[in-house]
Amino acid sequence: MSETSTDPGTDLRDRAAALDAADELAKLRERFTLPDGVVYLDGNSLGALPAGVAATTADVVARQWGELLIRSWEESGWWTAPERIGDKIAPLVGAAPGQVVVGDSTSVNLFKALVGGARLAAPGRTKLLVDSATFPTDGYIARSAARLAGLTVVPVDPSRAAEAMDADTAVVLLNHVDYRSGRLHDLPALTAAARAAGAVVVWDLCHSAGALPVGLDEHGVDLAVGCTYKYLNGGPGAPAYLYIAARHQDAFDSPLPGWNGHADPFAMTPDYEAARGATRGRVGTPDILSMLALESALDAWDGVAVEAVRAKSLALTDFFLACVAAYVPQGLVESVTPAEHEHRGSQVSLRCENAREVMGELIARGVIGDFRAPDVLRFGFTPLYVGFADAERAARTLGHIFG
Ligand SMILES: Cc1ncc(COP(=O)(O)O)c(C=O)c1O
Repeated sequence: MSETSTDPGTDLRDRAAALDAADELAKLRERFTLPDGVVYLDGNSLGALPAGVAATTADVVARQWGELLIRSWEESGWWTAPERIGDKIAPLVGAAPGQVVVGDSTSVNLFKALVGGARLAAPGRTKLLVDSATFPTDGYIARSAARLAGLTVVPVDPSRAAEAMDADTAVVLLNHVDYRSGRLHDLPALTAAARAAGAVVVWDLCHSAGALPVGLDEHGVDLAVGCTYKYLNGGPGAPAYLYIAARHQDAFDSPLPGWNGHADPFAMTPDYEAARGATRGRVGTPDILSMLALESALDAWDGVAVEAVRAKSLALTDFFLACVAAYVPQGLVESVTPAEHEHRGSQVSLRCENAREVMGELIARGVIGDFRAPDVLRFGFTPLYVGFADAERAARTLGHIFG
């Protein structure tokens, strides 16, 4: 609190204004279309609308499809969009070009990565280790992939995963940031442990890509998947991506060998011959409308360093936690997001009683976060368009609800 003020609200509002004024990323908010009067803290579920997407999408529909018709597969670059957009995502996850391919949902890419990963693993290994707190779809897909590949699923707490990896471990599936708690797992150390055990590691980047540096190449990750509708702002149902490290591409054997992943799709041969590179991760005809909306959305990243985004994300979540501590009477909410920066993603999860109703009330008052059963309020901080005044208002509104 400042020396002259006795009202924590005045003090925190002043601090928010000063932090926003000093924020070099603040001007990026202009790259998004956000409704007036709303504090949007749900970008960890559905990112906001980047400003250019509506016009791009209108052009794709009216001109590329409406006028150029089938010529657009060549002339508008539709056919090569999965690799081209993959290369646009690559720097955001620390990958050199040629290793990321866009298409399908995260769930489908998980299936490709897990079965493909099992086929890369040394023969005779029997276990598929899965983050025990994982987002449900990862667990469902892992169990089916394990059945197909003849592996046994072993749930592991990521904090103990390194100890659980042994000579029987074929594949390890981990979430970089836990969707419920916002806990950031140690990708470099866990990847190194998997490699030391001779296992193939698959990372789910849904809650980290676009929020913090990932370093896929630097840390020697084998395979990774992620969605694009959260921190990458690709839009509802935007296609996901698959990363296949260059060193694995020649051996990567997709369990979904559709014609788009064929070395010569228009030869229309009865036999499958996988394309070179990440292209072999493709399956069928790409969903061009969503994909080109995503391509336009990624322009919001022009000239933006992920490291700067991470620094702002941590400052935002620190400030939000400080505001919650000041505004919400003690004992009514408990943060389940780690306080230590090295363990925190870009969201704050608060546990409280009647969380569903509390979130409903927050949304009614213009602060949009979300609720995860049974008792968690989630607040996602997307540094490209969220400011410190937003964090202060969200916490103050929460305080009013409890007050
Ligand atoms: C960590 C994680 N993995 C997977 C998914 C599911 O992705 P999709 O619906 O694209 O299959 C989500 C969705 O929110 C997620 O948060």
